[in-house]
Amino acid sequence: MLSLGIEGTAHTVGVGIVDDTSKILANVYEMVKPAKGGIHPREAANHHAERVVPLIRRASDVARVDLQDIDIVAFSQGPGLGPCLRTVATAARALSLSLGAPIVGVNHCVAHLEIGRAVSGCKDPVLLYVSGGNTQVIAFARGRYRVFGETLDIGVGNMLDKFAREAGHGFPGGPILERAAKEGGKLLPLPYSVKGMDVAFSGLLTAALNLLKKGERFQDLAFSVQETAFAMLCEVTERAMAHIEKDEVLLGGGVARNLRLRGMVDRMARDRGARMFVPPGELCIDNGAMIAWTGLLMHRAGVRMSVEDTVVDQRFRTDEVDVAWR
Ligand code: ATP
Ligand code: FE2
Repeated sequence: MLSLGIEGTAHTVGVGIVDDTSKILANVYEMVKPAKGGIHPREAANHHAERVVPLIRRASDVARVDLQDIDIVAFSQGPGLGPCLRTVATAARALSLSLGAPIVGVNHCVAHLEIGRAVSGCKDPVLLYVSGGNTQVIAFARGRYRVFGETLDIGVGNMLDKFAREAGHGFPGGPILERAAKEGGKLLPLPYSVKGMDVAFSGLLTAALNLLKKGERFQDLAFSVQETAFAMLCEVTERAMAHIEKDEVLLGGGVARNLRLRGMVDRMARDRGARMFVPPGELCIDNGAMIAWTGLLMHRAGVRMSVEDTVVDQRFRTDEVDVAWR
């Protein structure tokens, strides 16, 4: 059985093809790079509309699969930016109709978790999902994926991107700060904001920018921002692991590429006799393969959708998904 998945919740549009052993036959994507400022939903949607058909063709070439042999068409139904979601849903509906293959709408956050389980060998992890727009601690409990903690304001990746941008550097900010932090070492005091299982980053961002204006070195601030923000993430992840008694932690989202974050989470996990798992980088970021795989799991579990069921949901909550496949 072959599943083709289309991702397009934010700045990345991607197409993946997987088989029923979770082998990834293709995983191609393109990303909008805003010239300056943040991402414009309309511009991103136009970009996705232009790129999605060539990407579908490229995925079929890479996988050496005829599109006629695709059994399932999956797409990211939410959460995400409305115009982007609608563009991708339209492409998925058209493809599904022209191939006569069933369509499945997939929750983007659940897909990050499922691809991690499939490729990294963990069974029942707590997922620390850290991307630009999202920061959530998710785990399976009582038949659903539940959000145990999340950001109360901006995603950790957005915070890193905004800090780098305001400091006059490029996009994305995460890798720029990771490099700069290696040349920093002075731990400057920044707000450490953990409320129960939740975190907040906008106070930290403002404080870091203020210190930059006061003349602190960018490298020291990059170091301090990472240390503080990642410590907050470790604390809430550890609390969730203790609370629901899980001994695996899985990283997902673009920020999971950061080696300092991985080091801190790994240390936390070992200290409590647990293990950390990290999917390869191109499966950490937004990608079509994770959508294809989760769509296949859903289809195999009997999920069927009519075209009316494929309406997108910008605020699609993780715990709304009936996890019929576990
Ligand atoms: P979502 O729609 O899931 O919120 P997204 O569109 O933000 O996702 P991702 O590709 O998952 O997309 O993540 C992008 C984020 O990852 C950016 O904020 C970027 O700065 C961050 N990032 C990438 N590499 C690193 C790194 N090495 N260290 C820290 N952050 C990183
Ligand atoms: Fe994502």
